[in-house]
Amino acid sequence: MGHGLLQGKKGIIFGALDHKSIAWKVAERCVEEGAQIVLTNAPVAMRLGEINELATKLNCEIIPADATSIEDLENLIIKSQEILGGKLDFILHSIGMSINVRKKKDYTDLNYEWMKTTFDVSAISFHKVLQTAFKHDAINPWGSVVGLTYIAAQRTFPDYSEMAESKALLESFARSFGYHYAKKANVRVNTISQSPTVTTAGSGIKGFSDFFSYADKMSPLGNASSDACADYCVSLFSDLTRYVTMQNLFHDGGFSSMGMAPEILED
Ligand code: NAI
Repeated sequence: MGHGLLQGKKGIIFGALDHKSIAWKVAERCVEEGAQIVLTNAPVAMRLGEINELATKLNCEIIPADATSIEDLENLIIKSQEILGGKLDFILHSIGMSINVRKKKDYTDLNYEWMKTTFDVSAISFHKVLQTAFKHDAINPWGSVVGLTYIAAQRTFPDYSEMAESKALLESFARSFGYHYAKKANVRVNTISQSPTVTTAGSGIKGFSDFFSYADKMSPLGNASSDACADYCVSLFSDLTRYVTMQNLFHDGGFSSMGMAPEILED
């Protein structure tokens, strides 16, 4: 049951592909808390995924947009405000994709054209979304923009490959753009560093299931689920976190502060 934390707020949710997607859970929780939302995803994902099912369930519209295309993003930002009847209060960026990971290229043998695409889709798209919203003055004062990231931005996780650098870039954009958006309109920009989560993108990483259980044991509270991540996103979109900005916020059951877990040694 919701608590009306997002009553009257309007937002765009990127990245709901199927029911496992983190963005799927966030969309459900936002609506439960009283928000009006527009869903968006890349045109190809609309054909492969289940987003129509979610839109029907939540009674909201879908506007396709490739997050690397400024033209698509402008259309999305303008049309969303028309549909929702006013400026936005929040945006979730829940997008990640690496062709080198998908094609199982070794980190020491990466294809640089693919790497550019990875950075564009997974990180530069965050700047593009922010810049488009900024130029169109599309977000209300005290609005909130959140991107999803992973601790491989700070520490080495060999199989995460070039996605590590994507996440480092994404987090840096949140800090830098957070400054400019705070000065312009008191808009907050943060990233949430989420535990490993069983989703299409997550499971694409080599050795994911072993790593998932390793992280679960390493984290004193266990891995944070996508439902818990959705709760955290709601809190960041709400008025209860108005002075939190330019942060990378770990939502990982304590994983990031651990040095050694006796439970793993026992195994
Ligand atoms: P997912 O596969 O459900 O979501 C990824 C989304 O990115 C998909 O909906 C896909 O269609 C979308 N996308 C890809 N290219 C796009 C483009 N050009 N334009 C617009 N959208 C595009 O997987 P998940 O796990 O829900 O991923 C969401 C975010 O969470 C990603 O940023 C991911 O890196 C991050 N994350 C995931 C973790 C995990 O273990 N699953 C852990 C930490 C962070």
